[in-house]
Amino acid sequence: AHKIIVTIDGFSSCGKSTLAKQLARELNYVFIDSGAMYRAITLYFLRNHVNHEKSAEVKKALHNIELWFEFNERSGRSDIYLNGENVEALIRDLLVSEHVSAIAAVKEVREFAVDQQQKMGEKKGIVMDGRDIGTTVFPDAELKIFMTADPAVRVERRFKELFERNPDITLDEVRINLEMRDYMDSNREISPLRKADDALVLDNSNLTMEEQLKVAHKWVKERL
Ligand code: C5P
Repeated sequence: AHKIIVTIDGFSSCGKSTLAKQLARELNYVFIDSGAMYRAITLYFLRNHVNHEKSAEVKKALHNIELWFEFNERSGRSDIYLNGENVEALIRDLLVSEHVSAIAAVKEVREFAVDQQQKMGEKKGIVMDGRDIGTTVFPDAELKIFMTADPAVRVERRFKELFERNPDITLDEVRINLEMRDYMDSNREISPLRKADDALVLDNSNLTMEEQLKVAHKWVKERL
């Protein structure tokens, strides 16, 4: 069967991964959460005290990083492995969230991640979510979706998710982190977050998961 590439970009906590995962499952495609790669690299940098402003240190660190995804039957999605360790839960920490945007802005880091992402899409049949997937990673993707949602809705969603694991977290902390990441991701020099000219906008502030999935699925069918 003819397979396509679907890209889903947008601001933090718009529900990109949730939609990407469901869509990939329906289509029997591979789902890749590109943000997990930047988060895992960030975890490595934090653990090993890598100064992201020093190019030589960054290069050496990246040389020692191996990332891969493995399907997890229980969650129905792929977990990310950093040098053989499943770091899926660790990379969601607020500490990682607070540092990831600065590290993801580094040229060598982006080249390292984008190169691997492009290889994963060689056979198509992939749904990848992130910030620059439709603009830089797969500029020729058949379907590009740009997701948006009301900022208050996004903060609330993210808070609920983090509160389950950390009851000390506050709404303000979450809001500040989202605003900071969106600002840094949109204003960095290399591959800033922006809607690709040919991307279709999906605002899910008032849509259920089923409704979003229906819209996305229709867009896919129109391109098969
Ligand atoms: O998608 P998620 O919120 O987990 O991504 C974490 C961070 O990784 C983003 O805030 C952004 O700085 C970076 N990122 C990126 N390019 C991508 C995906 C994520 O720069 N394609």
